[in-house]
Amino acid sequence: MNPLVPTELSGGAEKLIRGRHATRAFRPEAVPEDVMRAIFSLAGAAPSNSNAQPWRVEVVSGAPRERLANALQAAHAEKRLSADFPYSEDMYSQVHQARRAAFGAQLYGALGIGPDDHEARAAYDAESLRFYGAPHAAFLFVTGDGGARLAADVGAYMQTLLLAMTAYGVASCPQGLLSFYADTVRAELGVTGGQLLVGVSFGYADETAPVNHVTPERAALEAVTTFHG
Ligand SMILES: Cc1cc2nc3c(=O)[nH]c(=O)nc-3n(C[C@H](O)[C@H](O)[C@H](O)COP(=O)(O)O)c2cc1C
Repeated sequence: MNPLVPTELSGGAEKLIRGRHATRAFRPEAVPEDVMRAIFSLAGAAPSNSNAQPWRVEVVSGAPRERLANALQAAHAEKRLSADFPYSEDMYSQVHQARRAAFGAQLYGALGIGPDDHEARAAYDAESLRFYGAPHAAFLFVTGDGGARLAADVGAYMQTLLLAMTAYGVASCPQGLLSFYADTVRAELGVTGGQLLVGVSFGYADETAPVNHVTPERAALEAVTTFHG
């Protein structure tokens, strides 16, 4: 055995990283406040360029969560879109589109929604604005002037947060869709600065829901990685 490879440590890390899944059905129980504080403290260990930590996190639970879910659904129904970071289907290449289609087939298949049932898919998306039933949601804002470089730091924060949640047995779903209604989130939470990158719904998983057993595959190592030298 190579003594430079800490197998036990890497085994634990592998379990943690592979143990995280996007969860889309939650139990109603709240995450205790001390667990919540431990998770968000741990997430703060995320790396950032020059340690600038250009993130701001707004966590909603209880009555404010309910009000925000209602406001998001109203904004969605009235097509009041306000994305801070532009979105276009064109940003995806052909290979991305193929992966997205395979994932969509898996997800909607688990939900019993047919490939051409656009109405049911749209209804499911609208319902997802209630955080998939999760009792909490965290909104990740990029502070400073936004821009791709600072968004990368907040992306690192997001993954650290997701893994911190996993370590504490808390399930999560990052939801880009929540960021399409940034003005609604700001107005409801009284937030003035920052650009909304992503929302993360979290709580305890409903393990009985088939949708929580969707495990999208990943591209082969060679398809995304080149080792030089
Ligand atoms: C930035 C980002 C945005 C996402 N947006 C959504 C979303 O709006 N709705 C949703 O159900 N899942 C969303 N997801 C979850 C992805 O679909 C999921 O991570 C991916 O399919 C891989 O599955 P896994 O996380 O279970 O491994 C998002 C994930 C990321 C990282």
